[in-house]
Amino acid sequence: MKNFKRTLITSALPYANGPVHIGHLAGVYVPADIYARYLRLKGEEVAFIGGSDEHGVPITLKAKKEGITPQDVVDKYHGMIKDSFQKFGISFDVYSRTSAKIHHQTASEIFKTLYEKGAFVEQTSEQFYDEEANQFLADRYITGTCPKCNFEKAYGDQCESCGSTLNATDLIDPKSVLSGNMPVMKQTKHWFLPLDQYEPWLREWILEGHKEWKPNVYGQCKSWIDGGLNPRAVTRDLDWGIPVPIDGAEGKVLYVWFDAPIGYISATKELTPDWTKWWKDPKTKMVHFIGKDNIVFHCIIFPVVLKAEGSYILPENVPANEFLNLEGDKISTSRNWAVWLHEYLEDFPGKEDVLKYTLTANAPETKDNDFTWKDFQTRNNSELVAIFGNFVNRTLVLTDKYFSGLVPEAGELNDYDLQTLDQIGTFKTEVGKSIETFHFREALKNAMEMARLGNKYLADMEPWKVVKIDPERVKTILNTALQITANLTIVFEPFLPFTTEKLRGFMNLNKMEWSDLGRTNLIVAGHKINTPELLFEKIEDEAIQAQVDKLLATKKINELEQVEVNPAKSNIEYEDFSKLDIRIGTILAAEKVAKTKKLLKLTIDTGIDKRTVVSGIAEYFDPEKIIGQQVSILVNLAPKILKGIESQGMILMAENKDGSLIFVTPATKTEEGSEVR
Ligand code: MF3
Ligand code: ZN
Repeated sequence: MKNFKRTLITSALPYANGPVHIGHLAGVYVPADIYARYLRLKGEEVAFIGGSDEHGVPITLKAKKEGITPQDVVDKYHGMIKDSFQKFGISFDVYSRTSAKIHHQTASEIFKTLYEKGAFVEQTSEQFYDEEANQFLADRYITGTCPKCNFEKAYGDQCESCGSTLNATDLIDPKSVLSGNMPVMKQTKHWFLPLDQYEPWLREWILEGHKEWKPNVYGQCKSWIDGGLNPRAVTRDLDWGIPVPIDGAEGKVLYVWFDAPIGYISATKELTPDWTKWWKDPKTKMVHFIGKDNIVFHCIIFPVVLKAEGSYILPENVPANEFLNLEGDKISTSRNWAVWLHEYLEDFPGKEDVLKYTLTANAPETKDNDFTWKDFQTRNNSELVAIFGNFVNRTLVLTDKYFSGLVPEAGELNDYDLQTLDQIGTFKTEVGKSIETFHFREALKNAMEMARLGNKYLADMEPWKVVKIDPERVKTILNTALQITANLTIVFEPFLPFTTEKLRGFMNLNKMEWSDLGRTNLIVAGHKINTPELLFEKIEDEAIQAQVDKLLATKKINELEQVEVNPAKSNIEYEDFSKLDIRIGTILAAEKVAKTKKLLKLTIDTGIDKRTVVSGIAEYFDPEKIIGQQVSILVNLAPKILKGIESQGMILMAENKDGSLIFVTPATKTEEGSEVR
C-alpha cells in the first residue's frame, strides 16, 4: 500500500443541460461527499472538486430547440445545479464550470502540449455534411431509421428504442436535424488519440496494478482493453466548445470528453494557486467518483491524456456506481422521469439528510437499484424516526426531566453498561474501513447499528421505571446513553451532516474528530444540554402520495406522447375528393339516443335543409351545451338507420391522441350551407 499525504476527490461534472436528479446524487455526489467529509473528519488534507460540464452537442440541440444560445442554456442550469448542490450540502471545495476562461486555457494548453509532443495522429475522413446549413453534422445532428430495429428516429450514435450503439453511416435514410435534408459525405480532418498504442501500458497499469478496483469497473476496463482499442477523435466540427488551438483547425472544437475531465484540473486552479501539489505530486491520491457510463472516459481515455502529457498523477481508484432507477423505470431527463433535487428541496424542506440516508442505504454500488417513495417513507419512519430519533429523543428528554439538563455522573457501571460501551469502541475501525474501501451502504448500515444499540440499551434499562426505585442507577444509565448520543454525532457526520449539526446543538457540543469516535467520556458530568427538540419527523402518507401522483401524471403525459400519429393514407385524385359535399351547419337541437352511451340525435341547419344526424359524440358533449355550435357536415353521405333513427349525413370531428373529440368548426361564424373544399 502506498502512503498518501492528501486526497483529491473528483466528482463527474454534470451536463448543464438539465437539473440534477436523484440518480446523479446516488451514483456520484452523495458517496463522494461522504468520502470527503470522512477524510476531513480524520484531519486529512482534502480537495473535493465539482463543476458543470458545459460543452457538447446535446447543449447546442437544447439551445436550438428553445431558440436561445448555448451559453444561455448553461448559464441557467449551472446556476440551478450549483445552488441545489449547495442547499443539499454537497461539500465541494470548489464548484466550477467548463465555460470558464481558466478552463478554456487549461484545456487548450494540454491539447497543445500533446500536439507538440506528437501524441496525436491526424486523420482525414468522410463525415456527413449539411449543404444547406453549411455545416458538418455531429452524430446527434443526424437521425434516421435504426438498421437493427427499424425505429425511425434513431440518432447517429445511438438508437434510443433498442439501445444499440450506432455509427451515423449505419442509419437508413439519414436526415440532417438542421434542414431535414439528406446529408452528403465530405472530407474533414481530425486529431485522434491513438489509444491502441497505450494498450500494453493500460494492461499493466489497470489489469495488473489495480486489481482492487470494484469488479464492475475492473471488468469494464478489461473488456475494453481485450476488445482492442482504437484511435479516438478528440476534435469535432462544431461551433460550441473550446476552439482547437492550432493552425488549420478553424471551425473545429475539442471533443467534449477531451475537455470535460480537464475541468477537474481547471477547477483546482480556481481553488488554489498551489494546484500542482494536487495534480503533480505522487503523494496525492486521486479518486474519481462517477457513474458507470463514464468508466471508459475516466479509466482509459483521460489517463491516456494525462500519461501522454507526462507530468500528472493518475487516479488511484475510480469507484463507479451502477444506476438508480425510479419506481421501476430508468431515470430519464427527456421523459421527465426523475426526482429533481431542486424540487425535492422545496417539497421537503429541512429533510436533506433523509434523502441522503435513503440514497446511501439503497445505493447502486454493485447493481442497479430502485428508488421508491414508499421505501423513502419507510426508511424515514421506521429507521431514522423510530430508531435514531427515538433513542436520542428519549435520552435528551429524560436528562432534561430528571436532571434539569445537566449530564449526570457515570457512577458505577455494571457489566451490561460496560459491554455496551465496549461495542461503541468498534465503530471507528469498522465504519472507517467500509468508507475507505467505498462500501458506503455497509458503512451507513454499520453506523445505524450504533443507534440501534443505544435504542436497545434504553429499552432494556427502562430508566423511566428504574427512577422510582433506584435514582442513582438512572444517572449511570443516562450518562451511558448520553455518551452513545455524543458518539452518534461523530459516526453520522460523514453521512448526515445536517442531523449531526442539529444534534450537537441539542447537546451543546462542539464538532469532534473521527479519532474521538468510541470514547466513552465525550460528554462530562455537569455539562448542560439544551432543551431537546425532535431530530427527525415522521413523513405522512399524504406527502408520499403527492409525489407518487406527480410521477403518475408524468407517466400519463409520456404515454400520450408515445401514441404515434397515424401515417398518411395512400394518395387519391382531386376527383375523389370533390365527390364529398361538406357544408357548414349549425346544431339546432340535440338529445341523447335512449339506451345508448355514445349516440346523440342532432338536428342540424345545413343551409340546404334542416335534417337529423345521429352522431357518436355523447361521451364528450352535453346535449344542452352544444346548441348553436357550428359544425362541418358531410351532407351527401347515404342515409343510414341507427337505433331506429335515420341519420342523414355525418358531422366531422377531430380526434385527440387520448380519443377525445373536437368539433371541426369554421374559425369565425359562417353562413349555413357554405361549402368546405
Ligand atoms: N457530463 C458527463 C456526464 O454527465 C460527465 C463528465 S465527467 C468529466 O455523463 F470528467 F468529464 F467531467
Ligand atoms: Zn434500434
